[in-house]
Order: sequence, then structure tokens, then C-alpha cells
Amino acid sequence: MTTPLDIKVNVARAKAAAVGAAHGVTPAELAELEPRALEILSLLRGERAAAKYGFYDLYKDDAAFAGVKEKAAHFAKFGYENLVVLGIGGSALGLTALQTALNPPYYNLLSRGKRRGPRLFVMDNIDPVTFKAMLRLCPPKKTLYNVISKSGGTAETISQLMIVVDQLEKALKGAPLADHLVVTTSPRHPDAPKSLLHPVADTYGLVSFPIPLNVGGRFSVFSPVGMFPAAMLNMDLDAMREGCAAMDARCSLASLEENPACLRAAFQYLLDTRKGKTMSVMMPYADGLRDVADWYRQLWAESLGKRFGLDGGEVFAGQTPIKALGATDQHSQVQLYREGPNNKVFNIIEVAKFGTTLKIADTLPDVPGLGYLRGKSMNRLMAAELRGTMDALKASARPVIHVTLPVLNAHTAAQLLYMLEVETAVAGRLYGVNTFDQPGVEEGKIIARRLMGGEG
Ligand code: PA5
Repeated sequence: MTTPLDIKVNVARAKAAAVGAAHGVTPAELAELEPRALEILSLLRGERAAAKYGFYDLYKDDAAFAGVKEKAAHFAKFGYENLVVLGIGGSALGLTALQTALNPPYYNLLSRGKRRGPRLFVMDNIDPVTFKAMLRLCPPKKTLYNVISKSGGTAETISQLMIVVDQLEKALKGAPLADHLVVTTSPRHPDAPKSLLHPVADTYGLVSFPIPLNVGGRFSVFSPVGMFPAAMLNMDLDAMREGCAAMDARCSLASLEENPACLRAAFQYLLDTRKGKTMSVMMPYADGLRDVADWYRQLWAESLGKRFGLDGGEVFAGQTPIKALGATDQHSQVQLYREGPNNKVFNIIEVAKFGTTLKIADTLPDVPGLGYLRGKSMNRLMAAELRGTMDALKASARPVIHVTLPVLNAHTAAQLLYMLEVETAVAGRLYGVNTFDQPGVEEGKIIARRLMGGEG
């Protein structure tokens, strides 16, 4: 049964019937893949039941949601001007995607009365210029810091924390740091990594949220990693949980056609491995989804980009994810997308109804040729640009997967993120790789550590 809030996935423009058999999926290819896709769904269902992957069920964790809401209500009483998140990769990108999708544009520039919470600064880099600028903008006494690191040992995040603790100690002059610093890290468990954030939490008596052991960083947006800051920013956590539940029901269907995550994974996989679409462009036509494309970029790249397969053989798997934005990138990227190498699948994301309507004024009467804009809405122009790009891509035999959100809100944004997570899990199995590790990023970290005089 579909509901008006359900997001839709349409693969018609990625089929051979739309773009030809050289560039689109044929019915025979889909039929051939179907048994394997269904087998993978069943395998993942079993592994989920055995608690191998925790991301599927995060939205069901009543205690975790009650905990973040209670602490957010506690900290809200202090009336902080700023919430600063210290974290990188999966500890930062999910929250950023939610903030852009669910809070108003230019949020930090709004006056306190017009914002739903403190200003948000997500510090996901170690550029000294940016970090110093943040420190200047956020006086310690008016700021709550949330340091997020699953491993609790990430050099970038820990170095940020060391600077912040020093600033807090100097500014607070003996007042408790616990009113200004919250930790989110792995739980205290014999199987968990020894997080450096545990002794920090102990020393200062900090509130500490656990990230479940069976949840990887890039799959953690619905854990306290994303949900505590989201609660501080007064996002609708309950609607997000409902959105996850609705999408979970659809992604649990043992059907290639009706399971949107499975359908998307099958198409992207076939387009990559059979049609040479080695790049996956995500191009939302809504500024609110700009950072979902950034979040997806990490999810798809880090999960699928693997040298070795599950059987130990070399596979060099993975599709390169690319973020784009409609209509902006029509004037930057679409020339390449239409006439450059035909090596991309396009994920065009539409929001059917924007949260507002803006009329294009019936003005400039003396300027000829503007009749097509006069008195229409910017909404209609955006929709026309999206159709225009999709049709132009089709004319150039470029496959498109079209995803439509009826509106952009907490329910639909959660559906979208949840669907992309499940899709990634399915795709990992289709490629035959371990979706949930990232061995390729370790070596650079070890070298950097040595260069800093640390142990290997
Ligand atoms: O998805 C992942 O696991 C990574 O991108 C991590 O989120 C990232 O490396 C940060 O790690 P941590 O949260 O341990 O600081």
C-alpha cells in the first residue's frame, strides 16, 4: 500500500527501451540478475536478524531516542548560541545532510527567535584558518561542543578536541566542562575499540552517547551521531523514525521490482558492470538535498570501492559517485554529462512540491521575449529545468534513475537516506565486497601519524 508521503523510484529511463541496449538495462539482464538479488535480500535479512549490521534497526531504538531527547532538553535550558560538532566522514556528513534538508536556508544567519535552536558549525576538517575562525565566532561560554568519533582515535577530531578543551578550560575558569562538551563514541565494551574519548568523558564527567558496535560511521546517521545534534536543532525525530519504518517495510519486500533499494542497486550495478557506467551522479533539483548528495558520495565510495572481494580475490570494484545540483550544474556539468564519455548513470532527485511558491513577477514589460517567464512560478521553472535535463540526457542515450520526494520533510528525508543505506548494502553483495569496512584509508592515516612523531 502506498501513502502520499512515499518517495518514488522510476527506472524507466535507465532501461534499454529508453536509451538503447548499449546504455540501458535489458529485460533479459534484469531477469538474469533477479534470483541473485533475491538471494542477497534473504542473506542480508538473516545477517540483520543475527545483529551483524545495526543500521537497519537504529530507528527502532526507543531508549536511544529517549536518551538523546532528554539530554537535548537538558542542554537546551542553557540557551547556547552555538552547537559545534567535531567529527569527520560518517561522524559529520549525515548531520550536515539533515541540517540542509530540514532547517531553513541560511539558518546560522537567522536571528535567535527565527531559528529552532543554536547555530550549527560542523567542523569536519583541520584547516587552521577555518577552525580559528569558528573559535572566534563561538565564544566557549555560549557554545556546546559535541565531539563525535566512533573509533575515538581519529587524529583530525582529537586534535580539534584538544584545542577546544584548552579554550574551554581557559574561558570557564573552573566551571564544569560538562555543561559545554558532549561525547559520542563507541560503547565501553571488550570488543569495542579503546576510544580515547572514554578517559576524556571520565575526567570531566561528560555526557557520553554510545554508537552501537555493529553500526559503521557512514551508516550511523540515525544513531546518536546524527540524532543528538538533530534533537538540539529541534528536528522532528519522530517523523524521521516513521520515515525509516515506512522505507524499511518497502526495502524488506522480497521483490526486485517493488523493493526500491534492491531495484536501484540492481540497476546501478548492471549499468556499471555491463554498460560501462563507472560513475554515479547524484543530482537533486532542490538546494535542501545538496548535502544528501555529499553524504551519498561517501556512502557509495567508501562502501563499494574495494580492491579485494569477499572471496579474497582482487576485484577493484566500485562506481565513482559524483555530486551535482540542479539547476546550478546545468550550467557547469551538463555539457560533459551529455556529450562527454557515456560512462555515467544519473540519479535525478526531484521534490514534487516545494515548501513555498515563489511567483516570477509580471514585470519588465518593455523587455521582449520574457512572456514565458512572466507570472509563472520559480517552482514551475525548476520542474521544467528538471524535465528538460532528463529529456536531453535521454536524447543522448544517458541512463537516468528518477527519484521523487512528494515534499521535503523529516519523513521523506529519512526515507531517502534509509533507502540509500539499504541499497548500498545490497550493492556491496552484488559486487561481492565487504560493504562495511574501509581498509584503504588506513595506510594514509598510519603514515601521517608517523610523520607527526607517533607510533605506526
Ligand atoms: O564510515 C566510516 O567508518 C568513516 O568514514 C568514519 O566515519 C570516519 O573515518 C571517522 O571515523 P571516527 O568516527 O572513528 O572518527
